[in-house]
Amino acid sequence: MTTTLAQPAILGGPPAFPDGLPLTRVSLPHQDLLRQRLDAIIASGQLTNGATVRELEDAVAALLGVPHVVAVASCTAGLMLVLQAVGAAGPVTLPSFTFAATAHAVAWAGGQPVFAEIDHDSITIDPADAAAQVAASGSAALMATHVYGTPCHVEALQQVADQAGVPLVYDAAHALGSHRQGRPIGGFGAAEVFSLSPTKVVTGGEGGLIATFDEGLATACRLGRDYGNPGDYDCLFPGLNARMSELHAAVALASLSALDARVALRGQLARVFHQATNGLPGLRFPVVAPGDVSTYKDLTLIVDPAEFGLDTVALAAALRAEGIDSRRYFHPPVHRQKAYAHLPRDRELPVTDEIADRVLTVPLWSHMTEDTVRIIADAVIRAHGKAQEIARQLRAR
Ligand SMILES: Cc1ncc(COP(=O)(O)O)c(C=O)c1O
Repeated sequence: MTTTLAQPAILGGPPAFPDGLPLTRVSLPHQDLLRQRLDAIIASGQLTNGATVRELEDAVAALLGVPHVVAVASCTAGLMLVLQAVGAAGPVTLPSFTFAATAHAVAWAGGQPVFAEIDHDSITIDPADAAAQVAASGSAALMATHVYGTPCHVEALQQVADQAGVPLVYDAAHALGSHRQGRPIGGFGAAEVFSLSPTKVVTGGEGGLIATFDEGLATACRLGRDYGNPGDYDCLFPGLNARMSELHAAVALASLSALDARVALRGQLARVFHQATNGLPGLRFPVVAPGDVSTYKDLTLIVDPAEFGLDTVALAAALRAEGIDSRRYFHPPVHRQKAYAHLPRDRELPVTDEIADRVLTVPLWSHMTEDTVRIIADAVIRAHGKAQEIARQLRAR
């Protein structure tokens, strides 16, 4: 743990980043090649349903070692199509500690979210509680989210799904580039759905990717992204327009290059942060199991306010004064959001509530320098060092 005598900016010291440090910056290698590709697409006059989307699907399938990848307009749309295809029009068990889109997809596919707890360490869905909720609700499907890119307990979750006889669908929005014990995320469950929105490690500007071993499921999703139209406009079911454009696919292909190296770099930057703050009271991080690889889509702190001296709101204010952006990913948890206030609240989710109160995501991007990471860590350390004064000042505001 490094120490410094500099006063935190919130107490009048000089800000660590006078020009501001955003939460994320897109890394887009080979931009000259991308421009050539975009020019060619525009010149071709075919901006959708073309060869670039197929090239992206093939490249991702090869990377993940799965036979079917279906490119779609967003992860949300991809989850909706998968849930529709597996017939999840009843109760669906999922974590509440996830992005709202996981639950929204359930609702749009005609299902009712049933929320399960997360485990305290990985902060991904707790397989034991998932099993209990699937059984109690008679769930039609089980969903899990690889939160921040941390692989879920995939073996235990598959057992839960198999025993209940329900499909397991992964919200893998954060996890393109993550690995579970050497196997790429993308090959687990009935299907995994990635996001290519701009905050992700691989981005198309917008977009999503469905990965599956199930040919029938892939075919249903291909139809579903095109209104359910098999080609003769005699639609087989009510689908979406969830196509990915050629332009987005071209950006995603550029963004896909050297993914493993980028993920390794992010892991190294996360380790620098962990080491720099090692021993700081009241601070811990989501646990990535030994042998697993996380994309670290987010670098997220878990702050115990009593031990750290500040809660996440106060720490966020201290960081803001330093010019450092942060987000409470994911707060409020989904079961406390207005959109789901109508659902029965017959049980508490104490681990979810506690973690949601304690998480704070700080900036990380693939080409960030270790020095920048250390300066962010130093700002957190200084905030802790002057926690009482900061809390007093915030109370007085
Ligand atoms: C866990 C999770 N699921 C789903 C989504 C939705 O992805 P998209 O914006 O591609 O629909 C996000 C977006 O950030 C997310 O964080």
